[in-house]
Amino acid sequence: MTGSRENIRLALIGCGGIAQTHLEAIARVPRVKLEAIQDINPSAGEAASSKYGCRFTKNPDDIFKDKNLDAVLICAPPVTHFQLMKAALEAGKHVLCEKPFTTHLRDAEAIRELSKKSGKIVMMASKFRFVQDMIEAKKFIESGLLGDVVLSEVIFCSVVDMGKRWNSDPRISGGGVLIDNGSHAVDVIRYLVGPIKSVYAQAGKRTQNIPVEDTARLHFETQTNIIGMVDLSWSLYKHTANYVNVFGTRGTLEVGWAQSLLWDAKEKSSKVFGNGYKKLDAFVRQMEHFADSVQEKVKPILGVEDALESVRVIEAAYTSVREKKWLKVHG
Ligand SMILES: NC(=O)c1ccc[n+]([C@@H]2O[C@H](COP(=O)([O-])OP(=O)(O)OC[C@H]3O[C@@H](n4cnc5c(N)ncnc54)[C@H](O)[C@@H]3O)[C@@H](O)[C@H]2O)c1
Repeated sequence: MTGSRENIRLALIGCGGIAQTHLEAIARVPRVKLEAIQDINPSAGEAASSKYGCRFTKNPDDIFKDKNLDAVLICAPPVTHFQLMKAALEAGKHVLCEKPFTTHLRDAEAIRELSKKSGKIVMMASKFRFVQDMIEAKKFIESGLLGDVVLSEVIFCSVVDMGKRWNSDPRISGGGVLIDNGSHAVDVIRYLVGPIKSVYAQAGKRTQNIPVEDTARLHFETQTNIIGMVDLSWSLYKHTANYVNVFGTRGTLEVGWAQSLLWDAKEKSSKVFGNGYKKLDAFVRQMEHFADSVQEKVKPILGVEDALESVRVIEAAYTSVREKKWLKVHG
């Protein structure tokens, strides 16, 4: 029973780019003890294991069969997430898994069942939920400062050459920018303004020579009839100081990269708040929250249902791209 344990013994699976930020974050959360790193490629994993003082293994069974380990953090590419989560849950480990949760809805549903059966925590890593400005923004919305929220938008666009990365191989990534950056965007919308009811998505003109979409626009309507749009791209800069805007009958909320802002229509005044996007802080807060959840101090703010729902919305968005029509997320 991990709930009563003082420390959480963790293994990292997949030690590439994003794992480096997770490793820095883990080092700042003393009750989470990094015991092992597993990667199919020893070069990155061995260097990190000597830097962070834990063992390295190429063999996943060394992780899953180790009864001493409480939890795994999965930072391998998307196509591996389902099998790795399944093996971890069957071995009785708690799971924190990078986005996208899975590349198919049926896999996410299977993980939900396994998590119920095992009673273990399954959380999808969703760093934006743990950005302090985003947490403040949610409080402002909930306290009614924006009045009735009507419209919302998310922008995740910047130029990244995906030509030589797994992100552009759909067999590994599950798709293009829509599943990659879109998984973040969908979870941000669900966090701030609630569950998404229907979607209409378009793939943009391809400017990189890759077999997946490099630009996409997702229109959505929430269950409470808030409408909005998400712009996603690896191929253009949409120059803007904010990545999330929420508009209501009493004001405007902007969540920005350097700072955030609340404009009050009645007072005709703006209040600047926050410090913008502090990546490492968000990862530390996320790891603290995972640890609290494993130790049964809190219920995860991002449960397996939320993770599954992000997969469901993205899957509906891809169907919408193909069928060129609005689709209900729940059929
Ligand atoms: N939260 C974020 O901001 C963010 C940013 C980037 C990537 N990601 C997500 O994190 C995951 C990893 O992305 P990345 O950019 O770090 O990729 P990466 O290619 O830099 O690293 C992936 C690592 O996983 C290893 N690997 C591959 N298959 C494996 C397997 N079966 N078992 C164990 N290790 C395996 C690779 O050898 C590599 O070292 C993806 O799901 C991605 O979508 C999240």
